[in-house]
Amino acid sequence: MRILAVSGSLRAGSHNTNLLRAAIDAAPQGIEVELFDPAGIADLPLYDQDLDVAGDVPRSVARLREEWGAADAILFATPEFNGSVPGGLKNAIDWASRPRLEAPLTNKTVAVIGASTGQFGAMWAQADLRKILGIAGARVVGDELPVTRAHEKFDAEGGLLDGELHERLRLLLGTLAAESVPAGVSAAA
Ligand SMILES: Cc1cc2nc3c(=O)[nH]c(=O)nc-3n(C[C@H](O)[C@H](O)[C@H](O)COP(=O)(O)O)c2cc1C
Repeated sequence: MRILAVSGSLRAGSHNTNLLRAAIDAAPQGIEVELFDPAGIADLPLYDQDLDVAGDVPRSVARLREEWGAADAILFATPEFNGSVPGGLKNAIDWASRPRLEAPLTNKTVAVIGASTGQFGAMWAQADLRKILGIAGARVVGDELPVTRAHEKFDAEGGLLDGELHERLRLLLGTLAAESVPAGVSAAA
């Protein structure tokens, strides 16, 4: 069972990326969590239907579709920017939602977590992301996991300081794995 961990933040010291690194450590036996390189989001062109030509999409788009499509499930961690998801993450999801019937996100089992430095733990961004992913064709499972005051939850090396959060990540990964349809297997099979 391979879960891809996608951070909505591009910055090197990201709390959301650190949260996903903590998920790698919290993974139950038999579940492998792999961090998606944030450059895979930064390098994408803005979605343009004129560029979305079968067999001839930009390299960065082909790579994104291949890597997201190959995962058994995806765990997204999103910051909140002005009350919603970062534009780069939304753009990546738009690319991954096409071509509609064979898109990487079609029937993909996904879960959403999020961290912000404020008091609400990116709750609005998580709610929007769940909605966007559902409309894009993914199966959103598990509860929201808001990490508030994220700057207090990690040490200087990015290590998680909060044992309860470690446990919640472990449980969420278990749910995500249990609900997922392995890549390459039809959901109807
Ligand atoms: C442009 C911008 C807008 C932001 N808007 C919000 C917001 O609406 N709500 C919130 O809780 N935090 C907001 N923040 C704070 C971010 O949640 C915080 O910087 C967070 O740590 C970013 O995630 P990262 O550490 O993974 O990069 C904003 C930050 C930026 C740079």
